[in-house]
Amino acid sequence: MKTLHLWVNGEPVSREVADNRLLIDFLRDDLGLTGTKEGCSVGVCGACTVLVDGQPVSACLSLAVSVADCRLVTIEGLAEGDRLHPLQRAFLEYGGFQCGICTSGQIMAAKALLDTNPHPSVEEIRSWMMGNLCRCTGYYKIIESIQAVAEGKVSA
Ligand code: FES
Ligand code: FES
Repeated sequence: MKTLHLWVNGEPVSREVADNRLLIDFLRDDLGLTGTKEGCSVGVCGACTVLVDGQPVSACLSLAVSVADCRLVTIEGLAEGDRLHPLQRAFLEYGGFQCGICTSGQIMAAKALLDTNPHPSVEEIRSWMMGNLCRCTGYYKIIESIQAVAEGKVSA
């Protein structure tokens, strides 16, 4: 066991964790942040994407101890009070989800893109989002949702 210190969605967190505790289990079971979803469990689908110091990371492949002293953001950290993040509003307005299992991972991956490249082309969005799989939407609505934010059609 180790005492893990980090920042989660802007709040300091200190917890005892086993050396082999997966980040996804730490987030969902220890911290109750169930917005991060587990799809494939083997690093293929992107459903478990969270941001660690701004970088998208698969929580199912990462150990909790690997994020010691990092700034971690999950889907729960995007809204400000009742005000959804523009990406969350865009996915609602443009129909970027159906069952929702992939959605938090899609949004977190898209946030990482827009944080470094606020106005990506459609090709750049498609290329960046290739690691996030969706079994429901056919992807068009996901790309449209991200594009809407990139083009300023959804207010900040
Ligand atoms: Fe982590 Fe699929 S659940 S990549
Ligand atoms: Fe169902 Fe993407 S909305 S898997």
